[in-house]
Amino acid sequence: MNKQVLVEDVWKSFDRGRIEVLKGVTFTVPKGEIVALCGTSGCGKSTLLNVISGLEEVDRGKIRVAGFDVVEESTRIDLLRHHIGYVFQFHHLMPDLTLAENCLVPLIATGGQRADGLARLHELATATGVEHRLGQRVRELSGGERQRGALVRSLMNDPELLLCDEPTGALDEKNRAKVFDLLLDLVRARGRTLVLATHDLELALRCDRTVKMRDGRIEGEVR
Ligand SMILES: Nc1ncnc2c1ncn2[C@@H]1O[C@H](COP(=O)(O)OP(=O)(O)O)[C@@H](O)[C@H]1O
Ligand SMILES: [Mg+2]
Repeated sequence: MNKQVLVEDVWKSFDRGRIEVLKGVTFTVPKGEIVALCGTSGCGKSTLLNVISGLEEVDRGKIRVAGFDVVEESTRIDLLRHHIGYVFQFHHLMPDLTLAENCLVPLIATGGQRADGLARLHELATATGVEHRLGQRVRELSGGERQRGALVRSLMNDPELLLCDEPTGALDEKNRAKVFDLLLDLVRARGRTLVLATHDLELALRCDRTVKMRDGRIEGEVR
């Protein structure tokens, strides 16, 4: 089966069922595809990414990533550490560590066994244009540099699936297009799968497929 992501009739609520957010979401993503989830704020994009990654539990439904059952609790942390990269809307880097130290954290979380860790860090940092900032503390970096740094960190373990939540949402217009192009290039060059959430339709249309969400449901899609 060539499905990298399979989401089947997924339901998710908060506040003991009082806030229903995902209402029977079904969709699949083949390996190597770049998919944009779009829809207005509050429609459930972030929640959907969180349940795909296993950061949030579903109420019911089926989720598989790279053949792993995400709903099955025992494998979830391994899946997240080894097979999924995540870029949050606000970088979530540790401000008092250097950019290099932040980017090495995923390697530590997977046992620190990658001999090529430093070479990989330099390669990704060069590709994203932050190589000269690696020794800097994150709190001294600009917004664009932080988001590029978050991208480097998310790719350190060479994940099969990259999930990005409004990856350029916190950036100004000039940086937004640049970081977005960089993201697509990096993922395409490696043949990886990307699911990203954005409310920016213009950016979404540069992906292979745009899946439109509305009020916790998939409303349609554009290729
Ligand atoms: N932890 C939570 N507790 C309660 N409500 C939540 C929680 N997370 C998200 N929601 C609600 O779920 C809805 C969808 O949120 P979200 O997935 O963040 O949408 P989007 O990313 O499309 O803007 C919103 O109404 C939001 O308030
Ligand atoms: Mg969101």
